[in-house]
Parts: sequence; structure tokens; C-alpha cells
Amino acid sequence: MLVLAVETSCDETSVSIVRDGKEVLSNIVLSQIDIHQVFGGVVPEVASRNHVLNITRVFDKAIKEANIKTEEIDLVAVTKGPGLIGALLVGINAATAFAFAHNKPLVGVNHLAGHIYAANIENDLKFPLIALVVSGGHTSLVYMKDHMDFITLGETLDDAVGEAYDKVSRMMNLGYPGGPILDKLAKSGKDTYNLPRPYLDKDDYKFSFSGLKSAVNNIIYHKTRKGEEINVNDMAYSFQEAVIDVLIHKLKTAANEFSVKQIVIAGGVAANSRLRQRVFAEIKEKEILIPKMEYCTDNAAMIGAAAYYTYKKEGSLENYQLAGYSTLNLDD
Ligand code: KG4
Ligand code: ZN
Repeated sequence: MLVLAVETSCDETSVSIVRDGKEVLSNIVLSQIDIHQVFGGVVPEVASRNHVLNITRVFDKAIKEANIKTEEIDLVAVTKGPGLIGALLVGINAATAFAFAHNKPLVGVNHLAGHIYAANIENDLKFPLIALVVSGGHTSLVYMKDHMDFITLGETLDDAVGEAYDKVSRMMNLGYPGGPILDKLAKSGKDTYNLPRPYLDKDDYKFSFSGLKSAVNNIIYHKTRKGEEINVNDMAYSFQEAVIDVLIHKLKTAANEFSVKQIVIAGGVAANSRLRQRVFAEIKEKEILIPKMEYCTDNAAMIGAAAYYTYKKEGSLENYQLAGYSTLNLDD
């Protein structure tokens, strides 16, 4: 089954051609990072407008690079949520128009399912599994008994992990997106700032990162008032260790409680080098899958991978009726 997949939930305009949910024939990702950098974060209206400007070109390029004919496509898939509503609607309208014009079935895909299925592109998901989805918009711990069977065990109550990275980076005027910047600086830092490990001692799978972010903010504020400098490497390291301590603790606890065969870590923050290093060092008893870098941050190949299984489970949409959802649970 040849799938054309579209992803526009945030600031990446992406179209991919994927065969049988596994073989990526093309994966074009047009990032708007340069455009949003000056604002220190993604501006929704600016993201939507740039999707509109670029989407047709990205479609053309994905089809051309995959070296396929339009007639060969069996299914059109698009992210239906969660995400920025205006941004989602650009992809949904483009995908719907394409499917309708070429008389192809259409399926809507959950973005978080996409992040998890990125791990199924080069490896095979083995059930039951626990997936940790960590991105700019989400922090979710998910239990899967089988394909497309999701139970969300816990989510963040406030900021997502990636969002916390981005905000801490902005507090220190280091740039956007903060994740890769802090990841790099932390390599030459030490854990000197003694930051809190939020929700580490709570007996559940909920996360919270806004208190940690405020703790960083307070330190910066008080040091600046006293005319003292912040050591950015040490702050990056201290912040990152606090985040990773919590993530690994909850992941380990869930993996043991549910006796899973596999642990999947997905989403933009799964690109973090220290998280990757620590998770393999500290969780020896389970198989760990982390998608390769290009499939961690937002891309349409992961939507194509999830679309194959979404279609198997749900079939295609009737009458090309597809709405966008700014919030959407995996369990819905
Ligand atoms: O999955 P993604 O591309 O978009 C969303 O669905 O949100 O994730 C983007 C997020 C950003 O917050 C970015 O700072 C973070 O992923 N990120 C990282 C790293 N690379 C990207 N966070 C920590 N370490 C990284 N190396
Ligand atoms: Zn994402």
C-alpha cells in the first residue's frame, strides 16, 4: 500500500511517500525555524501562512523524489490533531483536495500516534510496550497492548518537556529551538544549580515542568539582580539532569508495572543526546527503540507509518469529511 502523508501540525510543512507503513520513498520536511526564531517561538498565524505558501511545492517534491506516479498512490493521510488549528487545517485541506481530485481514500492520523510509529519504520514495535512521547507540545506516557491500541497513563499537567527546554533557553537568551542548544551546552556543564525534580516522588505517571522552569527563572532573576553571572553550561546541565531524572524514573516504573517487551521514546526531545545515552545505560532489562533523528522531530513519514495501521483499523473517511483538532487524545 502506497501512502501519501501530510504533516502540518506545527511549524514543519512535510509530505512523504511511504510504502506499507515501513519503506520511506521520500520525506520532504520544510522547516520554518528560521522564520519563527526572531519571535523566540512558533507564532501560529505565521506558521499557517507559511504552510499555505509552501504546501503545493512540498507535495510536488515528495512525489517527484519518490519517483512515483500519482495513480500509484493507494491512500492519502494527514495529521488531524493535536496541533495548531490553523496549521492543521492547511494540511487537511490540501490532503482532502488531493484525495478528492485523484479519487483516493483519505484517512486522518493522530500526531502522537505518528511520533510513536516513527519507531516502527526501521524496527518493529513489539507489544505490550510503553511509549514516552516527548515533544514541544506533548509529554505522554502511553501503554500499547497492540497496534493502534493506546492507553494514556499520564501526561504533563502544564508545560511539555520541549516547551520547557525552549523557555529556559529563551530566559538565557540562547535562541530557539532551545532543545538542541541546551543539549550541546550541557555537554560541558555540571549539576551545580540544585533544581527540583517535579513529580518524581509522586506515585503516578503525571508530569509537570512549569515549576522547574520557574526555579530556573528565579535563579536567573536573583543572580542578575546581584550582578552575578549565570554559567549557561551548568544551568543547561542542571536543568537537563532534572528533566531526565523524572522521565527515566517514570518510564522505568511503568515498564516494570506493565511487564512490557519494549520501550519506545519518540518526539522531538527523543533527539536529546543525554536522554539517549542515559536511557540505554539505566534501563538494561528492556528493549529500547528510539527513532532515528530525522524521524524524531515532526515529519510526514511518521504520519505515513501510522496511517497504514490507522487505515487497517478504521478504514477511510466517508465523503472526505475531516476536521482538525487542536486537542486530541490517543485513546479517543
Ligand atoms: O516533535 P517536535 O518536532 O514538534 C512537536 O510536536 O512539538 O518537537 C520539537 C521540540 C522542541 O521543543 C525542541 O526544543 C525539542 O523538540 N528538541 C529537543 C532536541 N531537539 C529538539 N529537546 C532536547 N534535546 C534535543 N536535542
Ligand atoms: Zn510533534
